[in-house]
Amino acid sequence: MSEVKQALVQAADAARFAPSIHNTQPWRWVVRADRLELFAVAERQLQAQDPDARMLLLSCGAALHHAQVALDAEGWAYSVDRPAALAPDAPLAVITPGERRPAEPEATRHLQMLRVRRTDRRTVGEEAVGETVLDELVKATEQSGARLHVLGRDQVLELAVAVEHAQSAETADDRAQAELAEWVGGERPEGTGIPSASLPVEVPLTTVAERDFQTAGTVTAGGGHDRAATYAVLYGPGDAEQDWLRAGESLSRLWLSATEHAVSLLPFSGPVEVPFAREALRRILGGTGMPYLAIRLGLQDPAHTAPPHTPRLAADQVIDVMEEG
Ligand SMILES: Cc1cc2nc3c(=O)[nH]c(=O)nc-3n(C[C@H](O)[C@H](O)[C@H](O)COP(=O)(O)O)c2cc1C
Repeated sequence: MSEVKQALVQAADAARFAPSIHNTQPWRWVVRADRLELFAVAERQLQAQDPDARMLLLSCGAALHHAQVALDAEGWAYSVDRPAALAPDAPLAVITPGERRPAEPEATRHLQMLRVRRTDRRTVGEEAVGETVLDELVKATEQSGARLHVLGRDQVLELAVAVEHAQSAETADDRAQAELAEWVGGERPEGTGIPSASLPVEVPLTTVAERDFQTAGTVTAGGGHDRAATYAVLYGPGDAEQDWLRAGESLSRLWLSATEHAVSLLPFSGPVEVPFAREALRRILGGTGMPYLAIRLGLQDPAHTAPPHTPRLAADQVIDVMEEG
């Protein structure tokens, strides 16, 4: 196999560790002699909870950024096209490698973080994330296109209301509940979904409620609160498929940077999935943009053990290496 092709296979492999809605991993990579193509997988789209594929696109965007981190860390220059047409035979994005150059130090660090990063549903500690680190996280997010709006106290209360309304709407939706039960709970030996080992024993008592997955997990939430948490909204100017893909890339960059700073991150997608709650988030942003995801940032008490990593599909289930050329 050529050096380029090998690097593309490694990039697609690194992308397996990306976060995704309910760990659906709704992507497939095609490795060709001179390019890497990213496709969405409709069979792993949450049809009831995510009919417009926004969460699918955020997830695929995160995978796309993970692949770029792997190439950057190996010193490959490349271009990324994002046609982002949600047709089964059209790629969401195509990465075309160019010359080799010195590896980027941030990417080398992020490549390591990619295996460390995880979703942490334990409550955060009593100490807040410092201003300097927050500024760095805001800057890191912007490098991939979307922006991060850190919420003030009153806005956190508005977020709490939007989250609660979204949760009630989703709990009342039988189709969404049936879908949730398919993806969440138990052991998940098939490599997708969220196992009980990653979910709290019960939904912790926080101002902004964590998603109620309707199944008890085994993670001790920590007995804490979210008083020292920082809440933020990932947002941007557009609502097109490319915008959601870009937002996913920003989410990945933010999350890897946060991991590097030992900051835990928890996404809240309910208020984006439910239209009237999404409108509420839009008002919180003062009409400056389209909300893509609400996020909690915090520091963990080092005395608490982190939950295990969620499973992943095997490489041959998400990567096709073409023999041509
Ligand atoms: C677009 C998106 C939305 C998510 N929404 C939520 C959410 O609302 N609540 C939650 O607890 N986790 C949420 N997650 C986290 C996923 O459940 C998690 O990424 C997945 O289970 C894989 O686990 P890992 O992040 O620990 O690797 C979201 C992740 C993504 C990428």
